[in-house]
Amino acid sequence: MPIFKSQLCVAITGVAAVVLANPGPTPSAQLVAFPEAVAHAQITPPSRVQRHPTQTYKHRRDLFDSLGSGVNSVLSQLGNIPSYVASGVPNFFQDFPTGDAVQSSLGLDDEQVAALPTNVLNLSPYGNWTDQGWNVRFHGNVYKQPNIPQDRLNDLANIFLIDVDIETLPPEQQDQARNMTASIFVIQQEDQNVTVHLEPAAMAGSSGEPGGGGAVTPGGGSQDLALPYPTTEQGDFDVFLPIANTSGPNGYLMAGNATNDIQRLNVYANGTNTGNATAYLVPPTGLTIISDVDDILRVTKIYDPAEGLLNSFARPFVPWMNMPEIYANWSRSIPDFHFHYLTTTPEQVTRNYMDFIFKTYPGGSFDTRPLNFSDVSATLSIRAFLLNKIFDTFPQRKFILVADTSNSDVMRAYPQLAVDRPNQVQCIFLRNTSATDADNYFPYDTSGFENLNQQMYMFFNVPDDLRGLDIANGQCYNQSVPQNVTFGFQDEALGIHGDPPSAAGHVVIQWFASLVTAIAVTAWLFV
Ligand SMILES: *[C@@H]1O[C@H](CO)[C@@H](O)[C@H](O)[C@H]1NC(C)=O
Ligand SMILES: *[C@@H]1O[C@H](CO)[C@@H](O)[C@H](O)[C@H]1NC(C)=O
Ligand SMILES: *[C@@H]1O[C@H](CO)[C@@H](O)[C@H](O)[C@H]1NC(C)=O
Ligand SMILES: *[C@@H]1O[C@H](CO)[C@@H](O)[C@H](O)[C@H]1NC(C)=O
Ligand SMILES: *[C@@H]1O[C@H](CO)[C@@H](O)[C@H](O)[C@H]1NC(C)=O
Ligand SMILES: *[C@@H]1O[C@H](CO)[C@@H](O)[C@H](O)[C@H]1NC(C)=O
Ligand SMILES: *[C@@H]1O[C@H](CO)[C@@H](O)[C@H](O)[C@H]1NC(C)=O
Ligand SMILES: *[C@@H]1O[C@H](CO)[C@@H](O)[C@H](O)[C@H]1NC(C)=O
Ligand SMILES: *[C@@H]1O[C@H](CO)[C@@H](O)[C@H](O)[C@H]1NC(C)=O
Ligand SMILES: *[C@@H]1O[C@H](CO)[C@@H](O)[C@H](O)[C@H]1NC(C)=O
Ligand SMILES: *[C@@H]1O[C@H](CO)[C@@H](O)[C@H](O)[C@H]1NC(C)=O
Ligand SMILES: *[C@@H]1O[C@H](CO)[C@@H](O)[C@H](O)[C@H]1NC(C)=O
Repeated sequence: MPIFKSQLCVAITGVAAVVLANPGPTPSAQLVAFPEAVAHAQITPPSRVQRHPTQTYKHRRDLFDSLGSGVNSVLSQLGNIPSYVASGVPNFFQDFPTGDAVQSSLGLDDEQVAALPTNVLNLSPYGNWTDQGWNVRFHGNVYKQPNIPQDRLNDLANIFLIDVDIETLPPEQQDQARNMTASIFVIQQEDQNVTVHLEPAAMAGSSGEPGGGGAVTPGGGSQDLALPYPTTEQGDFDVFLPIANTSGPNGYLMAGNATNDIQRLNVYANGTNTGNATAYLVPPTGLTIISDVDDILRVTKIYDPAEGLLNSFARPFVPWMNMPEIYANWSRSIPDFHFHYLTTTPEQVTRNYMDFIFKTYPGGSFDTRPLNFSDVSATLSIRAFLLNKIFDTFPQRKFILVADTSNSDVMRAYPQLAVDRPNQVQCIFLRNTSATDADNYFPYDTSGFENLNQQMYMFFNVPDDLRGLDIANGQCYNQSVPQNVTFGFQDEALGIHGDPPSAAGHVVIQWFASLVTAIAVTAWLFV
């Protein structure tokens, strides 16, 4: 069953209400009770009724204030913590809407759906060099885009916007909100055969981006390929496939052990003009940057859900300060630098992310959250899954990892990779979102960094802190940026400086940190 946005709000209100209304004797019973209530709540179809969840978020501030004034005294009264809280995973994030749910909520019959054109979301692939030649990871989704009348789209968009009616927004924000909403209301196509056509990509590339690190146009490589498996139940495809060394007017593909250059190929999904992407053939050795997108490359404010939803749904995407300049310099000055963008945003909105990135940052390969990662633990494990996949694909390359402190999955996965694969991690850069945003009440856990060498990581405040670092030669730490890493939970707004919270406080903080990640990656899926 799909989860509805209103449930999410109920859930958050539930948390706030429990702690606020009842900081006294027996909050534990209610804390235990509410997720059950949410799990069994009736799913209400989208309606015109405007919700007023603002209260939720006003309470959120109060909630944190109350935590801050005495985290231990409030939390020590919680008594038995349910196991799903202790595991850091709120159990109401389950079961995403499927194409069928979208189809029935729009009242479309099968014939109407069959008549719609097929679209393909083609994520920019990377490929590695193997004994069989180049091996390219094709991944994406096959879906149909229903035509939804504007007034219906407005209704649907209002489900996502918090305490804002779409009709009160400026016209360009209305368009953006309808566009985002439409891209969520798609009908994924299972059991589809996917075929692609490859050809050398000229400098401009199919989507206009030049490609990071001076990627080059190969002499050959044109070919047609049929992917070996049909799409999954959710319309996804994700498969590594060897490609042939075909000749073109200017020669062949270069072998991965004969060049340091990254070669660019256009990838067109057959039967649609919605499935264009650029593939990057990446040699075994060299440097790859893996960058998160939200709150590091664009302003999202994921830690402030009402703002986060507006920034994601209605406002045009805006780069974070002068990050584009930092990446452009790295792309120009570091030879053969492979850019890989890895976001855990839902697949449905990924097209908008790719459009923004490729207009604003160097071209590169792309990863997003596949639709089968939909339950809570999968949602929280997807980042590590995708990171391990690219690390496994390029065991000899060195990686620069970039993100911000508001992702609890990043705060775990990045330092863990440095421990597990010390020869592959060169630098970890984390934007300290608390430094520039007093509204960020979200705790972050720096304990994973305890045994890492300070020379390989940095918590930074503004993009200029990254200026002038010789990252290609392993200079990852700018001595003029004060580091205040306590190797524990930190939340300056709440006055938490890594002092070990009580056991109960610890799990609850961790739970909140997971919750924000879950909100960030799922909030816009609650149709
Ligand atoms: C390059 O790789 C191919 C395929 O793995 C292999 O046959 C060839 O010997 C390699 N060449 C060099 C110079 O290592
Ligand atoms: C959203 O806008 C982009 C850019 O104008 C367009 O290419 C895309 O088709 C739109 N998506 C939907 C679902 O309307
Ligand atoms: C996909 O290809 C297989 C094998 O070629 C074929 O049997 C099947 O009918 C195709 N499916 C669709 C939906 O075209
Ligand atoms: C893909 O389309 C091209 C051009 O229309 C066609 O030549 C090719 O046979 C198609 N490839 C497959 C595998 O269907
Ligand atoms: C493709 O073949 C050409 C000519 O034999 C050769 O020079 C080149 O190394 C080959 N490239 C790959 C990717 O195997
Ligand atoms: C995809 O590429 C084809 C072939 O170059 C082109 O005709 C089509 O307009 C492109 N589609 C988009 C959405 O850019
Ligand atoms: C999702 O599908 C991919 C293959 O497309 C598979 O490797 C992965 O394990 C699946 N994940 C989950 C959580 O089912
Ligand atoms: C290429 O990538 C695949 C998929 O991740 C991996 O299994 C394989 O070991 C890689 N090959 C090499 C030579 O690194
Ligand atoms: C993050 O910034 C805040 C506010 O400036 C600061 O108090 C905190 O120590 C910083 N955290 C780290 C890990 O440097
Ligand atoms: C370090 O950070 C400061 C402050 O943002 C900046 O002015 C400087 O360019 C950075 N780089 C180096 C190598 O000091
Ligand atoms: C640009 O990047 C190079 C390579 O990391 C670095 O050496 C140089 O100082 C950077 N320049 C600026 C202005 O950041
Ligand atoms: C570092 O954190 C401590 C609290 O643990 C605080 O008193 C101090 O001002 C912080 N220093 C900086 C440079 O942020």
